Amino acid sequence: MRDLLPNEANQMRYIEQTARRIAQLYGYREVITPTIESYELLAAKSGEEIRQRMYAFSDLGGRRVALRPEFTASIARLVATTLRSEPKPLKLFCVGSLYRYDEPQYGRYREFWQADYELIGSGRPEADAEILLLTHDLLKRLGLRNYHFKIGHMGILRGILSQEGVPEEQQNRMMQLLDKKRWEEALHLAHALHVSERGISTLRGIFEAKGDDTDQVLQKIHQTVKGYESALEALENLREILHLVMDSQVGLKIWLEAGFARGLEYYTGMIFEVYVPEMNIALGGGGRYDHLLELFGGEPTPAVGVAPGIDRIMLAMQRQNVPTKALEGQERRVVVIPVREELRARALELSMRLREHGIPTEVELMGRTVSRSLSDADRRGIAYAVILGPEELREGKVVLRDLGERRQAAVRIVDVPTEILKGWRPPSES
Ligand code: HAM
Repeated sequence: MRDLLPNEANQMRYIEQTARRIAQLYGYREVITPTIESYELLAAKSGEEIRQRMYAFSDLGGRRVALRPEFTASIARLVATTLRSEPKPLKLFCVGSLYRYDEPQYGRYREFWQADYELIGSGRPEADAEILLLTHDLLKRLGLRNYHFKIGHMGILRGILSQEGVPEEQQNRMMQLLDKKRWEEALHLAHALHVSERGISTLRGIFEAKGDDTDQVLQKIHQTVKGYESALEALENLREILHLVMDSQVGLKIWLEAGFARGLEYYTGMIFEVYVPEMNIALGGGGRYDHLLELFGGEPTPAVGVAPGIDRIMLAMQRQNVPTKALEGQERRVVVIPVREELRARALELSMRLREHGIPTEVELMGRTVSRSLSDADRRGIAYAVILGPEELREGKVVLRDLGERRQAAVRIVDVPTEILKGWRPPSES
């Protein structure tokens, strides 16, 4: 776990703010769920990988609990219980910190942050398409470039394995191997599980079906899964989702990979992750999970969602030299400097007035000279200094200094807030 210093915290909050704006624009309402939940709830269908890495413990009441490793289970619980009669689709958004005892390495932390969007109640391909487009929209707004979506479909892999009589538990073991790109071991496991020769060669073909020419890969999958009925249905679903996304003309870069699986066990349909070329770890991931709500006692309810990882988006922005825009209200900061000790109260008074106008304002608090205070303000990127001197004050004025331009002029006190809000520039020296 790590400390985030002011610059990093600022960048993280900027990403969070953008993620929240996306939630508003697409109609996702925020919910705040607890950091600690029942271990059983978090462990159900989360997958072996995450189960092993949970911060689990018994609380003082003897209950087995854990720090949340993700949001999806908590949201599914909420929708299966308290929110069960809400009209569908139900679109929910969460943002916050999560905990996994992962091996610390580049972009992998034990405490990390996600934004999370869950679209509950629609099993239609346009819902999957919306989740993909929303993710693209977020990354684009943040200024990231060249990211691509790696897409697969759990229904194809599970369809083949189910028809081959492989029980769900064993399918899960196989998915864990595929998640780690251990294809040969996955084929060995298939042998051991008595998958037929035809099944093995179908799986082999599936693992080879990948590329950025979506229609060609779809074609290849189609030829490979012939005879596996539910895999074919899944393929049709995938084709529809991809065509909706492509026909919507947003220019999503897609890498289709039929043998792609994710560590979480609840996925039933389309799954995806997003990558930038500079990093080989996913910036975000998601997919369709149509049976999770039933597991928590809800009605059978289809659902699809995504969790963009804020920490990794932050790293990607740094790698691509994408500037973090100032957080709202941080653009024009002001410092008020009294020239004399007896003007300190006036400085405090004026600073209150500026803040009432929504202008972030600091007061010189170290008793420094004007020139020292100005150079400190300059170093900290403050936009304006308001200098209170006795002569100007007698005329109801102060000296307003543009720190970027290094020029100043006397301005009437009553006009200072509006001038700053208008983006005041000092009159040119002529
Ligand atoms: P996930 O793939 O486990 O999916 O996590 C999503 C994103 O969280 C990852 O792509 C990554 O950016 C970030 N992340 C995960 N672990 C770490 C870590 N140790 N350090 C830094 N970042 C990390 C889920 O969590 C699903 N709940 C997504 C979902 C929502 N599926 C459906 N709805």
